[in-house]
Amino acid sequence: MNLFADRLVGKVALITGAASGIGECTAKLFAKHGATIVIADIQDELGQAVCDAIGSSNSIYVHCDVTKEEDVKNAIDTAITTYGKLDIMFNNAGIIDSNKPHIFDNEKADFERVLSVNVIGVFLGMKHAARVMVPVKTGSIISTASVASNIGGISTHAYRSAKHAVVGLTKNLAVELGQFGIRVNCLSPHGIATPFSTKKFKLEAGANVEEVVENVIHLTGNLKGVKLKTDDIANAALFLASDEAKYISGQNLFIDGGFSIVNPSLNNFNPTSLLFFFEQ
Ligand SMILES: NC(=O)c1ccc[n+]([C@@H]2O[C@H](COP(=O)([O-])OP(=O)(O)OC[C@H]3O[C@@H](n4cnc5c(N)ncnc54)[C@H](O)[C@@H]3O)[C@@H](O)[C@H]2O)c1
Repeated sequence: MNLFADRLVGKVALITGAASGIGECTAKLFAKHGATIVIADIQDELGQAVCDAIGSSNSIYVHCDVTKEEDVKNAIDTAITTYGKLDIMFNNAGIIDSNKPHIFDNEKADFERVLSVNVIGVFLGMKHAARVMVPVKTGSIISTASVASNIGGISTHAYRSAKHAVVGLTKNLAVELGQFGIRVNCLSPHGIATPFSTKKFKLEAGANVEEVVENVIHLTGNLKGVKLKTDDIANAALFLASDEAKYISGQNLFIDGGFSIVNPSLNNFNPTSLLFFFEQ
């Protein structure tokens, strides 16, 4: 077997938020590895364009607002009626709200909007994927969390709460579905340049997103010499979707070059004062 190709031959995958960014990149990679893809999004033209790029023989576009249960149910039922099964569910659609300086500046409606897409959307994807996977006792459910699922202070209250919830849902469902041979995992990327980042960093139209991400993310990151790209997230999703991860479930896989494991503020102390601190 060639480990570098054809890792998803015969599999059917549904990816939400697949019209852009991480989802688009993952859809194309999964297709390259032999999977048939259901592209689910609310940006119909972009979603159809991804489908056209992959090829109509092995992909289909479905309009699906992940906050609406009937849309999610319909997308999953489309996978079953069109391709006969669903092997991989990738709950990837996500949004972010604008950063406000204080919690008392945050509007309840904004908080609810973010949770609606980033948590309810993931819950509905998990629910309807489980509905069709449990009877056949196989499947891999993956969701996109974030480094915000681990550390505080780098995102909004709503976004951070939502990404923590994705990890909670992942662990709870992994426990429930393990008996059916279904694996449930999530991915936690650090920042990458996508339309999402334009919103996160409040950039003007036409601003160089790559440059901003490079300055904000890569310079503050731990691992040097490489830069995080959408391909890296897609490759991690490919691993979790494939049989190579057949004994991995309930995990939150960080693709952050070690960003979330280190507190760089320790570097602000000189070693002598640190030694003094630890000797007390
Ligand atoms: N870009 C980053 O820096 C970064 C870092 C960590 C995690 N993430 C997460 O990665 C995921 C994908 O983000 P991205 O960077 O590719 O952004 P993106 O904006 O390029 O893609 C997100 C996609 O989700 C779709 N979407 C939004 N609301 C939807 C809804 N209600 N129903 C269906 N689809 C909807 C959008 O139309 C878009 O195509 C998100 O969950 C995000 O939170 C992104």
